[in-house]
Parts: sequence; structure tokens; C-alpha cells
Amino acid sequence: MALVRLTTTPICLLVYLCCFGAFVKSAWGAKARHFEWEVEYMYGAPDCLENVVMGINGQFPGPTIKARAGDTVVVHLTNKLHTEGVVIHWHGIRQLGTPWADGTASISQCAINPGETFIYRFKVDKAGTYFYHGHYGMQRSAGLYGLLIVDVEEGKKEPFQYDGEFNLLLSDWWHKGTHEQEVDLSANPMRWIGEPQSLLINGRGQYNCSLAAAHSSSGGLPGCRFRGNERCAPNILHVEPNKTYRLRVASTTALASLNLAIGNHKMVMVEADGNYLQPVSVNDFDIYSGETYSVIFRTDQNPTENYWISVGVRGREPKTPQGLAILHYKSTTASKLPKLAPPTTPLWNDYERSKSFSNKILALSGSPKPPTTYHRRIFLLNTQNRINGYTKWAINNVSLTLPSTPYLGSIKHGFSEAFDQKSPPDTFHNGYDIMRPPVNPNTTFGNGVYMLKFNNTIDVILQNANALNANVSEVHPWHLHGHDFWVLGYGEGKFSKKDEKKLNLKNPPLRNTAVIFPYGWTALRFVTDNPGVWAFHCHIEPHLHMGMGVVFAEGVHLVGNIPNEALSCGLTGKMLMTGKHN
Ligand code: C2O
Ligand code: CU
Repeated sequence: MALVRLTTTPICLLVYLCCFGAFVKSAWGAKARHFEWEVEYMYGAPDCLENVVMGINGQFPGPTIKARAGDTVVVHLTNKLHTEGVVIHWHGIRQLGTPWADGTASISQCAINPGETFIYRFKVDKAGTYFYHGHYGMQRSAGLYGLLIVDVEEGKKEPFQYDGEFNLLLSDWWHKGTHEQEVDLSANPMRWIGEPQSLLINGRGQYNCSLAAAHSSSGGLPGCRFRGNERCAPNILHVEPNKTYRLRVASTTALASLNLAIGNHKMVMVEADGNYLQPVSVNDFDIYSGETYSVIFRTDQNPTENYWISVGVRGREPKTPQGLAILHYKSTTASKLPKLAPPTTPLWNDYERSKSFSNKILALSGSPKPPTTYHRRIFLLNTQNRINGYTKWAINNVSLTLPSTPYLGSIKHGFSEAFDQKSPPDTFHNGYDIMRPPVNPNTTFGNGVYMLKFNNTIDVILQNANALNANVSEVHPWHLHGHDFWVLGYGEGKFSKKDEKKLNLKNPPLRNTAVIFPYGWTALRFVTDNPGVWAFHCHIEPHLHMGMGVVFAEGVHLVGNIPNEALSCGLTGKMLMTGKHN
């Protein structure tokens, strides 16, 4: 019936192509995959409670993009928000040759105005698990996100085998709207947003109902009315006994560091951020905001039972119930609740456990190795500070504020008035005591850029420190745009010469996100081989909002023609109007 309608009514065919994507095959097998997306606010009930969410084509989370390595993804993004701009960042995609498609407001492009459409066209060059999300204000927290799955090229094989796969997109959810949260964070004194009300798995959570407590006795779910409210019922993964599955997990949380476990099932980690890992067997794993993993597991447990998949908070004192999904063995009924309670999350402040896990993540042998030396090493001190009573985060005593003209256009066209021409510092005062609150907590705003030489090896040593309150140092997952970096190591205290020999140059994992632990450092290395302007920032949304990031630029003179739509604001906007190019 539907088919008949599609073939007889051209309008329907058009709608079909628009909403569900279409692809065009090119001569060499790679495809262009087209999507027509509209971003809008809509009603949803992510955790059973009705709330406003940001959705795409009426969906929350946004549609999953599936492509093959080598394909070109084309997204026509129309802003249907009434009063604010929008952009979408393709997290983990390096945007080789298309830096204007990175989707970072004020960095790679002008925010798309209400009613306007911007076309993102970029190549997905490497198989792996990725996601996308809003990168303007706190739109990611508002729910603007979805998965981007890139399969290996046709005929190619992954270095592991599986019979089926599932995707889990993890996020955290507040009942308070993100505009209010932005006001809270920017208020004097700052009003902290607190812990999330719910953890969501594929956009679903269950507020205030303890599934865990309910599983055994009654068989019912007191306090949970998700039966009949399918929108917030836990996701069910339907599996056959004695098979091997791949589970792709991505975390786009605004705040929470998470740990995931499947009751009674061991997992083998095989991929992180689109790069293969030395397989490592785990009972559970930590995942920080901005990270993705693939794990392989076997359905080798009692096939007459179902099992909980649980996600809980780490690194901050948890005030949020676990997020849950169900692993359903098809040999029994899906509605049967698991007999075993959901796996408990490891203690939130057991950092030794977190570190030993992070140190187990290593590259698969045969993966690209880092250059053995560096051209430039940048130390980035992470501090919490104040500016005239406002609470901020700063890097080497600069709290990032973004300019009105996107850097990519202003650097390419030489508009020196567009941002601070003075580079932010490459290091911090060596007498700085990272174990104590800052002696002088006052910091400054800045929007300067680290100008990196093209084809250089850059080391970044992220240095954590004590926050404003004594005995507080937080976890910060740092994410780099435009690149993968090698994670050379994690250490305690302040990085010093003697730590040099602890760096792993043999098999460090390639990633796009890496965490710094409380009072510790993390060493990263990357090569500036991708002309463009790239954000590097803490992936905790409120921290970025409060200035926790820096901007790198490399080889901008090599950047091809930037589409006018990416330039149509600020000084580059004026340039387009007057037709005066530098
Ligand atoms: Cu996923 Cu700049 O972020
Ligand atoms: Cu942070």
C-alpha cells in the first residue's frame, strides 16, 4: 500500500527522500548520502516527564546517520527555531579539506539564522562510531544530538567479527531548560546547574522510578508509568543466545562521566573514537563525555533470563539514578524483567580504578605510531577562576569567549580586528601550586588563537589543578576538533621532566577525546596536517560555556574556498556585502 502510494504520488516520494535520506552512488562505489533536516523545539518525554527538547525532523534524539568509509554525507540543515541560531558539529569526523563543515559557531562558521538552510557536505573517511551535536550555546544539553555510524568500505573487514550490532547513545537530562541553565551559569554569583535528573539511553530514561528495586517482588514497576508510554520505556536489545554482538556506545552527556555494564556479561573493547584498540576484556567500562567505544560480547548466559544494561555516574557524587536498558534473550519473553539486579556502578571517587582502566586503552598493533619527537609543546593549566565575581574556567589564565566573526573566515581573509592578535601563552608560571585553590583567582577573558605551524608535531600537556574550593579537583574530558591525537599518558601532580620517560610512544591509542584526572596531567600528541581552525575544549557543556577551551589554527592559507554561507556574519559578512576581499 505504502509502496503504491510512493510510486504514484511524486510529492510522497519527495517527502520520502527528504525525510529518510537518499543516496547517490558514484563511479568508484563511494556514495553521497543526502539528508534534509529541520531543527526545532518540540515536546518530548525523555524521562517520562513531558519537557521541551530540541529535535530533528520531529525526532529526539536526532536520526542516526549510517554511511560507509569514503562516503560523502550531505546534510541540508534548516533552522526552524524561532529566535536562535543553530549549528551541528560532526564529532570525531576530521573534516579533511572541509574545515567550514565542522559545525562550530564562531569558529568554523556563522550560526545558521532562523529560517535559513546550511549545507554540510563532508567525507567520512574512517570507519568507526561517531555522533553529532549542536555546538552553539548549550544546544547539545537541549537534546540536539544523534549518532553517526561509519562502516568499513564495501569488501573490507573489521579486525573482529560479530553477528549483529546495537547502538547506545548516552546522555544526561535536566528538567530545567537550557536557556535558564545558561542564565544560571552566567549569573553573579553563579548558580550551579546541579546533577542531572536522569540518564538517558537512546533518549530514554525513567525519572524517579526505581526499576531496580521493583524487579524481583511484584514484577511491577511502582512509580513508573512507562507501560503504555513507550516513549520512555527502557530500550530493549533483542539477542539470540550464543551469538557475538557489537555494542557501539557514544556519550554526549553535558556533565556526567559514566560507567556501563551488562549484567553477567563480559565485554571486549575493540574500538575507541573511530580507532581500533588492542582488545581488552572488561566487566564494565568508563566513558566520558565526547568518547565512543565499541565492545564485543557473547550471549553465553542463561538464555531463559533477561539482563539489565546499566549506566551510572562516576567522578561526581551521584545524585542521579542509573540509566537502564534490557538485554533480551529471544529464547524468553521480552517483558520478563531480569532476575538479577542491575550491575552496580563502581564508587564515584575510586579514581585509581578509573586510571587503571584508562591505562588499559592501547592501540591495536599495526596502528599509526606517533612521531618520536615534537616541534612545540603547549602546557595548558586548567583552573576555575573569577572575573568580577563571575565564576569562570580558564586555560593559562585565559577564559575563552568567542568572537562575532568566525575565526576560519577572519584568519583566511586577514581581518586582524576580529579577535585578539596576541597568542595565548604556551605555558603557566612554574611556581603555580596545583594542589591549592588559586592564590589570585582573578582571570581575564580572551579570544586569541594558538597559531600552529603546518605539518608540525604538537604536544599538549593538559594540567589539572585545584578548583576554587579547597580539596576539589574535577574530571575534564578534553576534545579536539579536526584531529585524532595520541594519548601518550596520564600522571599525577604537576608534569615535570621526570615524567618524560613515562610517555608511551610504542602503542598509545589514537583518540579525539581524553580525560584529565583530578590533580593530574594528560599528555597528547598530534600532527598539524589539517588546514583549518579547530576548537579544543572540555566536553562538559557548562564548563565550555564558562570559558574552558582554546582555539588552534593551522595552514589556514591552504584552506580552499569557504562557502559564503559560513561567512555571512560579523566582518566577513560585511566583506561579502561590499565585495571587498583581502
Ligand atoms: Cu563534541 Cu567541540 O565537541
Ligand atoms: Cu571541564
